[in-house]
Amino acid sequence: MDKNIFEKVRANINELVDKNVKWSIYVTHEEIENFMNGSFPSRFFFPPKEWLPVNLDGVKILCLAGAGGQQAPLLAAAGAKVTVFDLSEKMLEQDKIVAQRENLEIIIEQGNMCDLSRFSDNYFDIIINAPSLFYIPDTKPVFKECYRVLKNNGIFIMNAPNPVNYILEYDSENGVYVACNKLPYKSFEHENQGDWIEYGHTLETYIGGQIQCGFAIIGFYENRKNEDEFETEFMTRAIKHNFH
Ligand SMILES: C[S@@+](CC[C@H](N)C(=O)[O-])C[C@H]1O[C@@H](n2cnc3c(N)ncnc32)[C@H](O)[C@@H]1O
Repeated sequence: MDKNIFEKVRANINELVDKNVKWSIYVTHEEIENFMNGSFPSRFFFPPKEWLPVNLDGVKILCLAGAGGQQAPLLAAAGAKVTVFDLSEKMLEQDKIVAQRENLEIIIEQGNMCDLSRFSDNYFDIIINAPSLFYIPDTKPVFKECYRVLKNNGIFIMNAPNPVNYILEYDSENGVYVACNKLPYKSFEHENQGDWIEYGHTLETYIGGQIQCGFAIIGFYENRKNEDEFETEFMTRAIKHNFH
């Protein structure tokens, strides 16, 4: 894979952190307290309650491409042994700030999710992959690596945009969405996207790709970001079975 792509993505993300984009705004002390009292966050991506163990004490969780000081501090406050792994140092800085503020132990690692070689086989109980796979050209290395570093019966939670988001463009004159793009979508093939790097993968890539790497999908959840918009995203919950 072209290393330049990841450099560009890192620069794009860092720039957005400087602009305080909402998925980089770290949790408040009150949000941590609310989570500890059983209330799951709605301000940012988080798996549904029933997808996580009730008791997180000592559970090894990898927040993959999941910096920003959001998921990792909540899970660490609940007792999980959290590693947050991300390409962007500015995003990771947000986790550092909350870890220091709340006196939480969070392992902070900068890297590319296509290469998890620093982690040993069968290590994590749960991987939570925040919305991010649309930043990489090929999801296969990620699924393969996640499968490897998870324990048997470990859980992989993934969030992705519905591919239909990439097919449609909004025609503001007529107030309708028009299907005018093809999948797989690549932002840099579209003149109006500037330096932005984003890939619109197919459902086969997201769901078939996990199954091909050995996962069994055991949970599916779909939500609409904003009721007025067409944009939808989905989450899958997959389990690593040792049958192959
Ligand atoms: C939308 S943010 C997700 C985190 C955020 N806390 C959330 O809940 O939405 C996407 C994250 O993916 C990270 N990312 C993008 N490409 C990556 C890669 N190849 N390896 C690791 N992280 C990556 C970005 O740096 C960014 O922090």
